[in-house]
Amino acid sequence: MEKLWGGRFSQNSSKLLEEFNASINFDRLLYKQDILGSKIHSEMLYNIGILSSEEKNHIISGLNKIYQEIEDGDFNFKISDEDIHMAVEKRLVQLIGEVGKKLHTARSRNDQVALDLRLYVLEANKEIRGQLLALIQTLLEIATNHKNTLMPGMTHLQHAQPISFAFHLLAYCFMYKRDFERIVSDSDRNNFCPLGSAAFSGTSYKIDREFCAKELGFKSPSLNAMDSVSDRDFGLDLLYSISLIMMHTSRFAEELILWSSSEFNFISISDSFSTGSSIMPNKKNPDVAELLRGKTGRAYGNLISLLTTMKALPLAYNKDMQEDKEVIFDSTINVSLSLKVLNAMLKEIIVNKDSMLQKAKTGHISATDLADFLVQEKNISFRDAHHIVGKIVAYAESKGIDISEVGLEELNLQNKHITKEAKKVLDLHNAMNRKTSFGGTAISNIEFQIKYLKDWLNEHK
Ligand code: ARG
Repeated sequence: MEKLWGGRFSQNSSKLLEEFNASINFDRLLYKQDILGSKIHSEMLYNIGILSSEEKNHIISGLNKIYQEIEDGDFNFKISDEDIHMAVEKRLVQLIGEVGKKLHTARSRNDQVALDLRLYVLEANKEIRGQLLALIQTLLEIATNHKNTLMPGMTHLQHAQPISFAFHLLAYCFMYKRDFERIVSDSDRNNFCPLGSAAFSGTSYKIDREFCAKELGFKSPSLNAMDSVSDRDFGLDLLYSISLIMMHTSRFAEELILWSSSEFNFISISDSFSTGSSIMPNKKNPDVAELLRGKTGRAYGNLISLLTTMKALPLAYNKDMQEDKEVIFDSTINVSLSLKVLNAMLKEIIVNKDSMLQKAKTGHISATDLADFLVQEKNISFRDAHHIVGKIVAYAESKGIDISEVGLEELNLQNKHITKEAKKVLDLHNAMNRKTSFGGTAISNIEFQIKYLKDWLNEHK
């Protein structure tokens, strides 16, 4: 079958070449963007007098028909058509005849594919933004209900200091907020329309790039045609931003996995978001969280893959760049799915407050607060206070109890400075609520952070 580019060729393509060269099996996902781009391009060709109104109308109705065929699953995608751009154009000529051949005037597949993928990336960006906001909203709802729910905060995965569960969730809210801001800036930076760059050096037709840019929803046309067809930074920005979202998600997923284990028992994941074992009837597994953690690997892989593809490519377009699409599709599809499922799963988690509190009573996690008290109230240097409290920790250890459970008399025997008020700061809730420094875990700060994030959410909805 003759290729759209077959004029100079005397031999047919090898079947093997077709198989190797084609991108239609994956770039068919770009049909919406491709058809939209073609419609706007033909409007522009009409505006500048290259197409008559009748020709333009024929082209547009042909393109609409193709769109419907694809939506209905009636379009015959053939590997011999190579890619979505040629498949659509070829079908257009079949449907409307000779006039269809005018569509590609003043355009190249190079600017066409740059446009399609950019539109896809900008749409994905928007979708991810919405999902991040929804996730932050859910986290805030849970945090609001757990301002005073005490848990052991950790460093090195060892009990360290008492914090509120809300405080821990708010930390993720701020990560996801930065992720949101990052992709907003990606979208601003890449909001330029490459259509009209043609092969790479522009075109001699008096095209109206402003019109196309505006109609396609871009800020303005890109400034340098060579850059426009060679640039895949917009895709890399997205892949990097997705990698960070997934990195944050993998940390959260890991915590959900730990928290739902019987060792922690801080939360229970609902049955509807858990799975069973084919052999062990007793099992309830946190597969969703594990997959969230696992999918982070492919997100990083996709970023590295495209960075490597782009490395050292001479300007302008090279066929290597066809490899950009699958990784971008894979990352966007998986991050969307991940954010959606994480959000839905969180809405159903049960927080086991009592168990958190129980677990907080191990590890002497209010020890720092006693040391701080000795500094603040008894004029003892921090290093000495650290030493005094260290001795008391050793005493509690020897008795097999937590520092918060050592009686006043025993404390006083250990050190004369440890009075009734000192004993009070060992209480876990008191210790938590003493962290009033800006950004700390005291309830007043948590309320401030929740309000701050709620206001921010309202501004961005
Ligand atoms: N299928 C190609 C791609 O995805 C479209 C651009 C082809 N351009 C070219 N000069 N061969 O990159």
